[in-house]
Amino acid sequence: MSNTERTLSIIKPDALERNLEEEIKTLLIKNNLKIKDSKKIHLSKDEAAEFYKVHQSKPFYNDLCAYLSSGPIIAMILEGENAVSLYRRIMGATDPKKAEANTIRKIYGISIDKNSVHGSDSFDNAKKEIDFFFKN
Ligand code: CMP
Repeated sequence: MSNTERTLSIIKPDALERNLEEEIKTLLIKNNLKIKDSKKIHLSKDEAAEFYKVHQSKPFYNDLCAYLSSGPIIAMILEGENAVSLYRRIMGATDPKKAEANTIRKIYGISIDKNSVHGSDSFDNAKKEIDFFFKN
């Protein structure tokens, strides 16, 4: 049975400032993910804090919010068969050093903070994160 899903992807400031938008988008498309919507946006620190609020108790929260709001990002709605888990596989582990070969974070990631992309970690969070960027 088919299971078409949507998930939220972000191309983070480190990747955008290295002009990797098109390369990363091409990689997504080659891996059977459709880009249903895409927008460039520069979040304020408060907006980044709202987006990452699930991490608010973590020691890296403040730096994380400062980083996501440090420059423009690309937010995208990805669609495909089992898109949430498929995209997480294509992204690779959070820490680029631990990511598998040929994953986005292995190829482009610089560090655990500057790991080039974000992806929703579950179907429910995908809905919330898509709404965060694309509602109205
Ligand atoms: P992301 O998938 O966008 O979700 C939260 C981000 O926090 C994560 O990618 C990392 O870039 C960042 N981060 C920084 N330090 C850590 C850490 N120790 N563990 C997990 N994520 C971290």
